Amino acid sequence: MDLVSKVKIGIVGSRFQADCIATSVKAMPEEMEVVAVASPTPGNAEAFAQRHGVPRSYSDYREMLNDPAVELISITAPNRLHAQITIDAARAGKHVVCEKPLCVTLEEADAMIDACAKAGVLLLYAEELFFAPKYVKAKQMADEGAFGRVHLVKQAEKHSGPHSDWFWDVDQSGGGALMDLGCHGIAFCWWFLGRQKVKSVYAQLSTQVNSERTKGDDEALTIIEFQDGAIGLVESSWNRPGGMDDSIEVFGDKGQTYADMLMGNALPTYSEVGFGYAVEKASSTKGWTYPVFEENWNYGFPQEMRHFARCVRGKEKPISDGETGRVVQEVLYAAYASAGLGQKIMLPFRPKGISKPIDLWKKPELARAAL
Ligand SMILES: NC(=O)c1ccc[n+]([C@@H]2O[C@H](COP(=O)([O-])OP(=O)(O)OC[C@H]3O[C@@H](n4cnc5c(N)ncnc54)[C@H](O)[C@@H]3O)[C@@H](O)[C@H]2O)c1
Repeated sequence: MDLVSKVKIGIVGSRFQADCIATSVKAMPEEMEVVAVASPTPGNAEAFAQRHGVPRSYSDYREMLNDPAVELISITAPNRLHAQITIDAARAGKHVVCEKPLCVTLEEADAMIDACAKAGVLLLYAEELFFAPKYVKAKQMADEGAFGRVHLVKQAEKHSGPHSDWFWDVDQSGGGALMDLGCHGIAFCWWFLGRQKVKSVYAQLSTQVNSERTKGDDEALTIIEFQDGAIGLVESSWNRPGGMDDSIEVFGDKGQTYADMLMGNALPTYSEVGFGYAVEKASSTKGWTYPVFEENWNYGFPQEMRHFARCVRGKEKPISDGETGRVVQEVLYAAYASAGLGQKIMLPFRPKGISKPIDLWKKPELARAAL
């Protein structure tokens, strides 16, 4: 097995998350490199290639899949395309890193896992919170017993709403803030509490601010009960102006810890004239702001991509894979169904033939039929 050469990555997509992945890969240059990009909007792939020094660009990702130099595909396209791109990549013999959420339906999750297993390629689920330095430190302390028996884990992600229109269109995204941000918190609580089975899910969803822009939820509270009785509480919002907020709280019978991913790594700053960039989704840099340093590193993106590259070379075992994404997907289904029915949903909960998770909220009869 080749243990030495850099893993050669082809990125599908050329905007927000594609920039983040390319920058993160460059931060860990000894393990991997981006050799190609594919994006359908005319000029975008070329501009991305120039921006990041990527040698080849394609307008159709299927052409990139024929590129023998590409070993690993990073999918940064809208949610509704994740399954098809993954299956095509697996058939072409490429390993896959899929951005969150894994896909839109549970059937897609099964098909993606199946296609990658059949092709003998890795399906890696891009949940960067498993690599965020502060959160990793919190988990290390919890695993050492620092907090005794952990009975409550909270994760919150809140910002002012997504940058691209497709997130707001539930036919393309599958759901609102719960689908977009809650998927992180669900994965986080599950990982933090030792990948236990989920027993039940209860969710309160609403569209508080953006009902003219979306049919999706823009405020979501999700309570996850795990097999040993511990609780995960996930708070997801598209209604928080002022920049990204990502934080956790962990409580046990012997102690607790709190981690605010960005604030502790920011400079309390006052400027009357403003400056270039403070933090993701911040609309202004004038007045008091909190510009963050090492933003990608704080999230864990370079560390995540390094781990995935090392998995491709057989040096590490994946800590986040297709199965992880499927666990999250089932909880998303249960959360939307819970909001639709106004009741707790017991797992397993795997209704078939649902075209998107949010339908279980908007059409509670679908959820009821699945109980
Ligand atoms: N891990 C994270 O924290 C994080 C952050 C942002 C986005 N994401 C995820 O990454 C994915 C992309 O989000 P984004 O914010 O970059 O969206 P975006 O709208 O900024 O970019 C989407 C990209 O996909 C491309 N695309 C559209 N149709 C395509 C097709 N048929 N083939 C190939 N490419 C196509 C677009 O041209 C664009 O370049 C989403 O699934 C999102 O949830 C994850």
